[in-house]
Amino acid sequence: MAAYPRKTEATGLLGWVDERFPIVQTWKDHMSEYYAPKNFNVWYYFGVLAMLVLVIQIVSGIFLTMHYKPDTGMAFASVEYIMRDVPGGWFIRYMHSTGASAFFIVIYFHMFRGLMYGSYKGKRELVWLIGMALYLALMAEAFMGYLLPWGQMSFWGAQVIINLFNTIPVIGEGLSLFIRGDFVISDPTLNRLFAFHVAAVPLILVALVFVHIVALHTVGSNNPDGVEIKALKNEKGIPLDGIPFHPYYTVHDIPAIVVFLMAFFAVIFFMPEVGGYFLEHANFEPANPLKTPEHIAPVWYFTPFYTVLRAVTLSPFMGTLAMFGAIIMLFVLPWLDRNPIKSWRYRNTVHMLNLAIFAAVFIILGYLGVKAVTPEYKEMGVRMTEIYFLFFAVIFIHSKTDLSRYVIGFIVLAGAVVAIDFWRYNPDDAISGAQIMKQWVWPIGYLALTLLLPLVMKSCNAEKAVPERVTS
Ligand code: HEM
Repeated sequence: MAAYPRKTEATGLLGWVDERFPIVQTWKDHMSEYYAPKNFNVWYYFGVLAMLVLVIQIVSGIFLTMHYKPDTGMAFASVEYIMRDVPGGWFIRYMHSTGASAFFIVIYFHMFRGLMYGSYKGKRELVWLIGMALYLALMAEAFMGYLLPWGQMSFWGAQVIINLFNTIPVIGEGLSLFIRGDFVISDPTLNRLFAFHVAAVPLILVALVFVHIVALHTVGSNNPDGVEIKALKNEKGIPLDGIPFHPYYTVHDIPAIVVFLMAFFAVIFFMPEVGGYFLEHANFEPANPLKTPEHIAPVWYFTPFYTVLRAVTLSPFMGTLAMFGAIIMLFVLPWLDRNPIKSWRYRNTVHMLNLAIFAAVFIILGYLGVKAVTPEYKEMGVRMTEIYFLFFAVIFIHSKTDLSRYVIGFIVLAGAVVAIDFWRYNPDDAISGAQIMKQWVWPIGYLALTLLLPLVMKSCNAEKAVPERVTS
């Protein structure tokens, strides 16, 4: 007995486990003695909601896998079988299809919260990077899941995305052949994407969520004021503005979970297709490699990046590069925004404007991605893509509230936009030429608002004093 001195005060079964696994300490570190800022607002619900949706997806996915057949000859019919013959099958399937869209809604809010409160700063860069890895894994998971029903959109969407790899010089063709496992999308493709969708990527997601939380709890949560609560502690070493995560936030999160589930089940019961956005109409037809759908568009959560892909027409490879570049820019955000103030509450007005415009542009890019291309929409896609990338340059410039920096930034960036316009202008193509002339106002107006406005309205450049303690 002496070789194993008793280290736990817990008794009974808990004590037995605690002597062999630090269950009590883990609970204390991450729940009952994890001190979270007391001023969390509604934006802080989305992390826990993302975890809830992950659980919904895994559980509903397990039940779907019991009846689904990953075989090009049977996949579509097996989904119909789930919908019509498996008891409760329609419910499980709608949970999973609604869960996919819900996941992205929740994650986009979660990410925007990070932008608003500068949650990628103050040693939280790794939390953000792991979050971005989660976002990538989530996109891969959704893309692969979408192929499984083997409908028209499953097939042709996968065709478009896998063909993107073709555009990579030298290795592209070999790479897409390797991904497909065949010269065309066929049974081996379906089988491997199924394996990744049900086993590999969910494991990666769960592992990443675990390290996301461990990294966050190592540094501590940010909050709407962007104040580091660990800077002021009482004599027991407890942050003055912190409250134990359990029971305060576990209870506080329950109403949010209830409201979320009400909306989630309302969609499942009353509008599971959501007008063709959550479940696209073309996917109710079995995949037909001989019949291209009239209009191929990915599911709504991918469409902002799809618009970026379509906007860059220099070469297919450049389009692909721009699309992936749009995601990569988000990875480097913590090193672009170097302003020490975290929360937008205390940053200058032009920074707030910049974030609000970025959110609007992301939505417009998404809208354009579901629309058929017209000369007007095509040009708007180019302009919104320009603003999307300019946002990162502007956030870098805003790191210091120095007016000369703003002016130089404006001249360089506006000059680059105009130079690209001259280079894009083709005198033989009057229609797109007219659109270029008409729509230059979007990026230039954006740059003027975010970089020149402080010259005429000094108050737009004023940063506020960050309080020492959280405000509410
Ligand atoms: C499956 C996906 C994800 C899950 C389950 C998840 C979960 C969570 C949870 C539970 C928290 C703590 C509660 C909260 O602050 O809301 C959190 C915090 C955070 N997450 Fe995520 N997350 C996911 C994806 C992402 C993504 C895509 C990003 C951004 C790139 C991200 C960035 C952050 C940041 C910066 C924090 C700290 C926020 C703060 O302290 O203010 N997460 N996440």
